[in-house]
Amino acid sequence: MYGPADITIESEFKCLGIVADLDIIILKDKKMGLVIPKLVVIGYVLFSFANSVYAGVTSSFIRSEWPSVDIPLDNEVFEIPSGYNAPEQVHITQGDYDGKAVIIIWVTPIEPGSNQVRYGKSEKKYDFTAEGTVKNYTFYNYTSGYIHQCLVNDLEYDTKYFYEIGEGDSARSFWFQTPPKIDPNASHKFGIIGDLGQTYNSLSTLEHYIESGAQTVLHVGDLSYADRYTYHDMGVRWDSYGRFVEKVQAYQPWIWTAGNHEIEYMPYMNEVVPFKQYLYRYPTPYAASESSSPLWYAVRRASAHIIVLSSYSPFVKYTPQYEWLEAEFKKVDRKKTPWLIVIMHTPIYNSNSAHYMEGESMRAAFESWFVQYKVDVIFAGHVHAYERSYRISNIHYNITGGISYPVPDKSAPVYITVGDGGNQEGLASRFNDPQPDYSAFREASYGHSTLEIMNKTHAFYHWNRNDDGKKVATDAFVLQNQYWNKSSKKETEKELYAHNRPDSRT
Ligand SMILES: [Fe+2]
Repeated sequence: MYGPADITIESEFKCLGIVADLDIIILKDKKMGLVIPKLVVIGYVLFSFANSVYAGVTSSFIRSEWPSVDIPLDNEVFEIPSGYNAPEQVHITQGDYDGKAVIIIWVTPIEPGSNQVRYGKSEKKYDFTAEGTVKNYTFYNYTSGYIHQCLVNDLEYDTKYFYEIGEGDSARSFWFQTPPKIDPNASHKFGIIGDLGQTYNSLSTLEHYIESGAQTVLHVGDLSYADRYTYHDMGVRWDSYGRFVEKVQAYQPWIWTAGNHEIEYMPYMNEVVPFKQYLYRYPTPYAASESSSPLWYAVRRASAHIIVLSSYSPFVKYTPQYEWLEAEFKKVDRKKTPWLIVIMHTPIYNSNSAHYMEGESMRAAFESWFVQYKVDVIFAGHVHAYERSYRISNIHYNITGGISYPVPDKSAPVYITVGDGGNQEGLASRFNDPQPDYSAFREASYGHSTLEIMNKTHAFYHWNRNDDGKKVATDAFVLQNQYWNKSSKKETEKELYAHNRPDSRT
């Protein structure tokens, strides 16, 4: 009874849990009616056997893992760049609503130094400059370095920019590529990473991500895990994390959302302002989407409209986040940005024993909108394992109605938990048994996902288990767009027509 009618060839993609790397074959089968290759048939048979027991697949893969401990601070991955007061911890994020700007953030350790970004379209030839701002903070007995942030705007789409920061011999240079202009058929490859931390498993995730060739990361929260430390070391571990991820974050934007490890509510240290260190270090373009807080916002990139929610900020009716989201959903134009993606930290549908049902309150608040606006996919983290749902909803649940079970719903998003970046807390390896009907695939391994949008109708989705190297897609499928796939589009048009008919206005 369960099956995502909108996801291409359910059985074949599910067998990817057993037989990997067949996404291209799947497309050919569906679109061209080719003979199904032997490998797929074998996989299908294996899957069918598994499916006779459970609705979904709980992977039995035994993974190797490094101990869940942070990499020592003297390791080369945390190396401080050479030169007096050299910029470090360089990271960028989208700086506006539509992808023509970036915010560049970096830290100078000894003195403020220059706030200037020099940039241009040729290497070492910087025709433009932008001026940023600088600030620092204290957290208990830790004093941060000088945190610079600079908005670089009015960029051209689809263009490689080179940039330089810092002064004299300590200057450092990087580059980034702007996305294509907002267009329904613009292609773009997103990576999805969650709960990363700074262990050897985190490093493996980062290295596998680099091999994926994706262009933008959606980070679903829990960044440095610095709050696993106390006193001075908390700040130190934010700094080491910043240096650790620079090799990716200086070159492509990460769209970040806050997790519980960013809250850092620490009364025993007299630090009671939630998200203090995170907000100093990870700005967002929230004002561009008329949000009142950097913790929830939206950006449009290529053909995607990405909504970032804060699981740890008020979201019930009448709160700023609720009212903002209500308005933001109304601004989504699927004719311009066909792909509607939501990211948050706490998963709404997840059958792991860890953090079970922690997303239920947000589900009650927002799920009906996710269905009404036909969100394509929702990515979350928090649970340190991988899980994907079918398209299901529980919007008919009410306290007195007696209906309290998720049911198949073609208008609902696919829910994907990717909290498996590799932090020092380790894997969440205990899943609830039996696997609930709504759960399509689940496995406790480290990894990351990619979503490669091809055009307005199709995107390739992969979950990549670290153990397997870049060639193996452990869970993969072709995601059909909720608005532009034929059956959904017809329904949407019918609904619009019904709404606009004079006799429907009562
Ligand atoms: Fe978390």
